[in-house]
Amino acid sequence: MRTQAAIIGAGPAGLLLSHLLHLQGIESVVLETRSRADIESTIRAGVLEQGTMDILTNAGVGERMRAQGALHHGIELAFGCRRHRIDLTELTGKAITVYPQHEVIRDLVAARLAAQGQILFEVADVAIGGIDTDAPTVTFTYRGEHERLEADFVIGCDGFHGVARNAIPASARQEFQRTYPFGWFGILVESAPSSQELIYAQHERGFALISTRTPTVQRLYFQCDPHDSVEHWPDDRIWAELHARVETSDGWRINEGRIFQKNIIGMRSFVCTTMRHGRLFLAGDAAHIVPPTGAKGMNLAVSDVRFLAEALDSHYRGGGTALLDGYPARALQRIWRAEYFSWWMTRMLHTFADATPFERAMQRAELENVVGSRALAQALAENYVGAF
Ligand code: FAD
Ligand code: DHB
Repeated sequence: MRTQAAIIGAGPAGLLLSHLLHLQGIESVVLETRSRADIESTIRAGVLEQGTMDILTNAGVGERMRAQGALHHGIELAFGCRRHRIDLTELTGKAITVYPQHEVIRDLVAARLAAQGQILFEVADVAIGGIDTDAPTVTFTYRGEHERLEADFVIGCDGFHGVARNAIPASARQEFQRTYPFGWFGILVESAPSSQELIYAQHERGFALISTRTPTVQRLYFQCDPHDSVEHWPDDRIWAELHARVETSDGWRINEGRIFQKNIIGMRSFVCTTMRHGRLFLAGDAAHIVPPTGAKGMNLAVSDVRFLAEALDSHYRGGGTALLDGYPARALQRIWRAEYFSWWMTRMLHTFADATPFERAMQRAELENVVGSRALAQALAENYVGAF
């Protein structure tokens, strides 16, 4: 088998890259270890920045997102029994859309398959070779057969636990990392939305986030021990904890409902600045992870592949390697700002068990500053909508 771009991973990064390359007349093959049903149903992100919405719309895959996604013009920060609105649109002229990641995946898979694009699901034993040469290869098992894909370029879009990053020799790879001493407990609930807008709540018992999916399904998260287990959390305990953390003095309460999914995710900040090695490029979570507090992960994956698609287009149109060579620096400029914002939101909103009373007072003062100062609220809003 031969193609121009061998793309490893059918997450938002890999699928969108394949679609953008197709629009530019560049062939690709996408290799994915999981099944189509699995990738189209895994619950993950929910918030799309305006720039992400624009890229999906311009690429012709934004129709369902515009019809079914919910446009949000603000978010709320809750602390000290009060809620404070950050008016994203008034502060930045932009908005966000709440539209689940697995729906973006469904839209992209449908677009690729409608254009006879090649996505090979349920591959195994993926191995990358020859990235220091002009003829890199990817070998894998597909439907019981050992296969070999030859390509001009290999693009690692295989997430944090994929194989692509580790195909770069450790001696040539530079990585930065921080893990956090807490995780998020996420639930999906059958109920009407509790709030028109997302609520990020800081409380001494720990952070909580009220998000939404559809008019009848809600997404809620609360800070937990990353090593805890969902079995320790019967529904009554979850509701008691959420009510305690998002209590407000105006009598507003979270709507309860049937909880039909529970999961725990760990939190880390991670950047592999070596986003290119020879003919291998990394994009999305394969190269960087943010804690979810800033809602940046999927948006960064989208902006990486937009830069990469432009660079490959320029290369194939005879524009040389300048944009390909410049890809890591261009992508990293945005990545580091999103890393900073996600770290800052995480630090401001979560409870750190080892924080001193002074540090806790500083955390509260920072929140008061953000909601009390237009300049600080605007900085938060600009970062949240991705207005740079
Ligand atoms: P992934 O989505 O991880 O896709 C990688 C794909 O590669 C997977 O399908 C995987 O099966 C496949 N793969 C792995 N190994 C191999 C292999 N060896 N060979 C072939 N295929 C392989 N981001 C936001 O922007 N907004 C949010 O609101 C938000 N909320 C989040 C909430 C939660 C609870 C979580 C967990 C994440 C959230 N994120 C959010 C982050 C976002 O989900 C990720 O950043 C995003 O999925 C990254 O996309 P990706 O394509 O780079 O990687
Ligand atoms: C969601 C996830 C996030 O990480 C976030 O900051 C906001 C919303 C969500 O899944 O809806």
